[in-house]
Amino acid sequence: MLVGDSSYQTVWMEGHSVKMIDQNALPFNFQIHECLSYWDTCMAITDMTVRGAGAIGAAAAFAMAQAFLEAPETDRELFLNDARDEIEGTRPTARNLFFAVERVFEAGQISTENAKIEAQRIALQDIEDCKSIGEYGNKLIKNHARILTHCNAGWLAFVDYGSALSPIYVAKKQGKEVFVYVDETRPRSQGAKLTAWELMQEGVPFTIIVDSVAASLMMEQKIDMVIVGADRIARNGDVANKIGTLDRAILAQSFGIPFYVAAPTTTFDMDCKSGKSIIIEERSQDEVLYQDGLDANGNTIKIMVCAPGSTAYNPAFDVTPAKYITGIITEKGIVKAHHQSIASFLKTTEDE
Ligand code: MRU
Repeated sequence: MLVGDSSYQTVWMEGHSVKMIDQNALPFNFQIHECLSYWDTCMAITDMTVRGAGAIGAAAAFAMAQAFLEAPETDRELFLNDARDEIEGTRPTARNLFFAVERVFEAGQISTENAKIEAQRIALQDIEDCKSIGEYGNKLIKNHARILTHCNAGWLAFVDYGSALSPIYVAKKQGKEVFVYVDETRPRSQGAKLTAWELMQEGVPFTIIVDSVAASLMMEQKIDMVIVGADRIARNGDVANKIGTLDRAILAQSFGIPFYVAAPTTTFDMDCKSGKSIIIEERSQDEVLYQDGLDANGNTIKIMVCAPGSTAYNPAFDVTPAKYITGIITEKGIVKAHHQSIASFLKTTEDE
């Protein structure tokens, strides 16, 4: 990805440090956050300095590698098991985090160097997968398409390229005219803050809508397709994604609009029978009660946006049943959101 004239990844490891684009500072400030220890990296995942399924996965992989670098000679195993629990305890919903930690933990049983190599491999794989999602997804995008997306499943949510936005970037590079409706995505406004900023870097035309506008836009036939990301996909094709995805999917179906999920196959959790067993993260009510932004002088401020004394319920994700999903765009091709199709798709592509 290019920010200005410089090329970046969302998260990377340099020596013992993990570095990342500070997503809490965006879109007002572009700055790099450095995590000197695995614990720092855990904090950055928890407070969403780094966020988005693939970026969290890579950050967690790097955190596990950092833990191997930090592990003392004595009680090494205990230290590493505790570190693994702490990294896995940062955020519960995104599948990539758990898959990445497990792979680096296993690799580290051979050597610390091996843990580092595995973490880098996971990050590189994420980049390749997202690039390929772009190629497959682009085939679904017609010239002049008006696309709705929810939350941020762009390059900020991965190491590079993104999932839901990657096909849009490929379509644009191929000369297609595309227009993106960006759901604001309350409460943290990843759409209004991050997707909007990212699309601006890429020169893709867009406009931000509040989440409740989608229904009328669809009825007015102003949306041709929906593409969203995924945090975890159950083996029956149910998809956990940012809260608000479910209503977009129901709406799309009732207006006959294709609804696609874009995600690397690392997002599938074949141990998870259906969306019912996906753990949905509940975050602080402050994310709903307060908003942050810029004041008239350009200083970042936090303001209360509710009746003082109110409480708020803040689930971060919802589950979209498979029956609402037209198809899942992966790095290996497009698969129907159905348990048999997913099982045979994953088996065939694994054998290739
Ligand atoms: O809570 P976040 O911002 O980490 O949420 C994850 C997401 O960005 C979305 O749910 C996204 O659509 C899937 S992750 C590519």
